[in-house]
Amino acid sequence: MCGIIGYIGNKNAINIILEGLKKLEYRGYDSAGLAFVNDSQIEIVKCKGKISNLESLIKPATFSTSAIGHTRWATHGKPSNENAHPHTSRSIALVHNGIIENYIELKKELEAEGYKFNSETDTEVIAHLIGKYRKELSLVDAVRKACLRLRGSYAIVLIDRNEPDMLIGVRMESPLVIGVSDEERFIASDIPAFLNYCRNVVFLEDGEMVLLSKEGFKIYNLNGEEKEKKVHTIAWTPSMAEKDGFKHYMLKEIYEQPRAIADTIRGRVLSDGEVVYEEWGLMPQDMKEFERLYLVACGTSYHACLIGKYMIEEMCEIPVEVDIASEFRYRKVPFGKNSLFVAVTQSGETADTLAALRYAKKSGIKTLSICNVIGSTVSRESDYIFYTRSGPEIGVASTKAFTSQVVAFYILSLALALSRGKISKEMAQDLVIDLMALPRKIEDTLKLDADIQTIVKEVYRKPNFLYLGRGINYPVALEGALKLKEISYIHAEGYAAGEMKHGPIALIEENFPVVFITSHGSLLEKTISNIQEIKARDGFVITITDTNKGLLNRLSDKLLYIEGSNPYLNPVIFTVPLQLFAYYIAVLRGCDVDQPRNLAKSVTVE
Ligand code: M6R
Repeated sequence: MCGIIGYIGNKNAINIILEGLKKLEYRGYDSAGLAFVNDSQIEIVKCKGKISNLESLIKPATFSTSAIGHTRWATHGKPSNENAHPHTSRSIALVHNGIIENYIELKKELEAEGYKFNSETDTEVIAHLIGKYRKELSLVDAVRKACLRLRGSYAIVLIDRNEPDMLIGVRMESPLVIGVSDEERFIASDIPAFLNYCRNVVFLEDGEMVLLSKEGFKIYNLNGEEKEKKVHTIAWTPSMAEKDGFKHYMLKEIYEQPRAIADTIRGRVLSDGEVVYEEWGLMPQDMKEFERLYLVACGTSYHACLIGKYMIEEMCEIPVEVDIASEFRYRKVPFGKNSLFVAVTQSGETADTLAALRYAKKSGIKTLSICNVIGSTVSRESDYIFYTRSGPEIGVASTKAFTSQVVAFYILSLALALSRGKISKEMAQDLVIDLMALPRKIEDTLKLDADIQTIVKEVYRKPNFLYLGRGINYPVALEGALKLKEISYIHAEGYAAGEMKHGPIALIEENFPVVFITSHGSLLEKTISNIQEIKARDGFVITITDTNKGLLNRLSDKLLYIEGSNPYLNPVIFTVPLQLFAYYIAVLRGCDVDQPRNLAKSVTVE
């Protein structure tokens, strides 16, 4: 997501901030900015676009010994000069990474008190809240009081023109790290921002506030109690630091999924089962109208649509069609007038998905996009928009974007089902409880990493794989096979398990690897029969499941048991080991995991 860097010391902070921002470029961003105190005034320089644009706006010989900087990856409000950070209020300037869940209610309160907003961001709410309390409190107390009113995730760093010798940072569910060197201090969202200057770091924990000065730093909790913290020495190379110590971006992004999903859920559902509509524009009264949905996408996003179909049809009893965008755009689709077209795209720039969206719009039906990039073409051209909040995805193979798309479908299904009276309030509440528990379940699933590496060692030389699943787990099989083929170049096919007898079974011979994805429930017995059919032909069965039935265990050569959720969320959980499986096979085969041959992250040509 966004990148933060702050500096206080004896050197020219402007140069250090610009250098730090460049080191954060790898994360992806749409705008950048910095703030410093000059002649007792706050100066802000910020703009949309590249850091080189920002650099060209800074007057030569600008000097300051403290400054804060930011690269923005839009979450609230499109990429623009106004929405770029820092944001200001009274004597302070502030940068932020994260999502403030209650920003709408806080904004209303502040507007009623006369505060004027210059941006569409949730961040400006934090600035004004601190500005408001600053009228009667010290800077530290004002920041503390404001933070206690925020709900959501934030890492903030701020300066105050009346306290130019101090920077303040606060962390809540969004990383913030301090760099400690002789007579200078750094604060950043990521270590690479200052790794060229300093290797001694202190990691802030949730609910901690740091006061930084040239002389030192002090850390407090939000009740004002001082805390002792350990200083760590970082041995990472710059390239390792960019990946947070992971070997590849893909692995880092697989491990980011609990956070990406928590952010995608944040503020969209309430614990009593209600769905929050304000942000995406599609209201309950609109939802009642739809008689048919068309879900359209490419690649991995298409697999998310297939999962979405199972959810929507079952929870909401609305017919759903799913199409590959490159096919849909050339079909003659007889849209009914009360249809909703849903484009699903991580990048929001995929040429075929965009063309399919334009085709649907031309026919006059309403359009919704589920998209990860704010301000992208697909998101701009859709009537309604649901942003997933995975953050920039750098690995070409989609991982966290996919699981967030499935979560978006779950929330959409919940909203449709509630508005049409297809589920009770109690049922909605149960579904929300399951959703809230999902990030923790993914964290637990990631603990299978070592087991997966052991299995992979036995099979990574195999030239072919078959992935099988039934019902809502069939698209999971498709996604598992796609991950494997795109990063390891192994031929892999995903199939509906029930379809196996109609062809693929001919492939099975001794030790042919077949990956089964199966949950508890009515289709389990049928899947067990399919496993028996593979075993009867001496195939090598790897099972991913949330049920540890004895027979399943006995039949499988390898079984990964996972604590599942309800059937709609299991595809998210089951996808995680499949991503790791593909990843470790590709690593053992020496493949370029983050940039597989012949593939591009965003396919903007037909
Ligand atoms: O940006 P999009 O979601 O529209 O991209 C669609 C596909 O190109 C993408 O999912 C592709 O299949 C990935 N490489 C899969 O990992």
